[in-house]
Amino acid sequence: MNQQRQALVTGANKGIGLAIAKGLAEAGFFVWIGARDRARGEQAVAQLRDAGLNAALLELDVANASSVHRAAATLAADICALDILINNAGIVIDMSKAPSEVRMEDMKAVYEVNLFGAVRVTQAFLPLLKAADQARIVMMSSGVGSLALITDPTSIYSSVNLLDYTSSKVALNAVTVSFAKELEPLGIKVNAVEPGHVRTDLNANSGFLTPEQGAETAIRMALIGADGPTGGFFGAHGRQPW
Ligand SMILES: NC(=O)c1ccc[n+]([C@@H]2O[C@H](COP(=O)([O-])OP(=O)(O)OC[C@H]3O[C@@H](n4cnc5c(N)ncnc54)[C@H](OP(=O)(O)O)[C@@H]3O)[C@@H](O)[C@H]2O)c1
Repeated sequence: MNQQRQALVTGANKGIGLAIAKGLAEAGFFVWIGARDRARGEQAVAQLRDAGLNAALLELDVANASSVHRAAATLAADICALDILINNAGIVIDMSKAPSEVRMEDMKAVYEVNLFGAVRVTQAFLPLLKAADQARIVMMSSGVGSLALITDPTSIYSSVNLLDYTSSKVALNAVTVSFAKELEPLGIKVNAVEPGHVRTDLNANSGFLTPEQGAETAIRMALIGADGPTGGFFGAHGRQPW
C-alpha cells in the first residue's frame, strides 16, 4: 500500500487538469491522472514522472458509469484513502450556436461530463474520501457559472451566452453547495473554482492565462486547512459571486 497522500484529478491528461496534477505532485501528493484515453493518460503520466514526480494513470471516463465504478474499485484496491478529488473534466461542443439552435443531444452530452460526471465521480469515490483525514473536493466551474456575473453588463462574462455549457456550470455550483452541506460534519470541504480565461484546447487556445496560472485557484482550494471555507466559489482574487 502506498503511504503518500493521494490526489485524483479528472481530465488530467492535458490543459488545466494536467497543470493541477503537476502542482499537487510538486506539493508532495501521489497524483492519479484521471484520463478517458489510456494513451493520452500515459503520456501525461510520463511527463510528470520525467519531472521526478509521483503519478499513475487511472482510466476514467466521467460520462460513463461503469468506467467510473471500475476506476473507483481499482483505486480502492490500491490505496486506503483519497485526500483530494478535483472534478476537472469538462467539455464544450459548439460555441457558435445561439441558445435557440443548441441541439438537445449536445446539451445532454455536455451535462453528462460537466455536471453528471462530477456528481458520478464524487459519489463513487466518496468511500475513499471519507477514509481520509479531512478530504478536499474541488469542482472546476467557470466564471460563466456565476448568475451574478453573466447578468452584470460590466462583467466580461455577460457577453458569453452558451446555453448548455453555462447552465451546466451554474448547476455544478449548486451541486457544490449540496455536497458541502452533507460532508461538512465529516470535515470534508467542497468548493467550486473558476480558473480565469486559460489557453487550452477547450477554447481553441484563445485564453490569456497559462494552464499553470489557471490551475492556481484549484490547487489553493485543494490545500486549504481545517479553518478554510466550504461550499464557496473562488477565483484568483478570492470569493466569487454566485
Ligand atoms: N480554459 C478555460 O478558459 C476555462 C475557463 C473556465 C472553466 N474551464 C474548465 O476547466 C476544466 C478543464 O478545461 P481545459 O480548459 O483544461 O480544457 P481541455 O484542455 O480541453 O481539457 C479538458 C480535459 O477534460 C477531459 N475530458 C473530457 N471529457 C471527458 C470525459 N468524458 N471523461 C474524462 N475526461 C474527459 C479531456 O480529455 P481528452 O483529452 O480525452 O478529451 C481533457 O483532459 C473544464 O471543466 C472547463 O470547463 C476552463
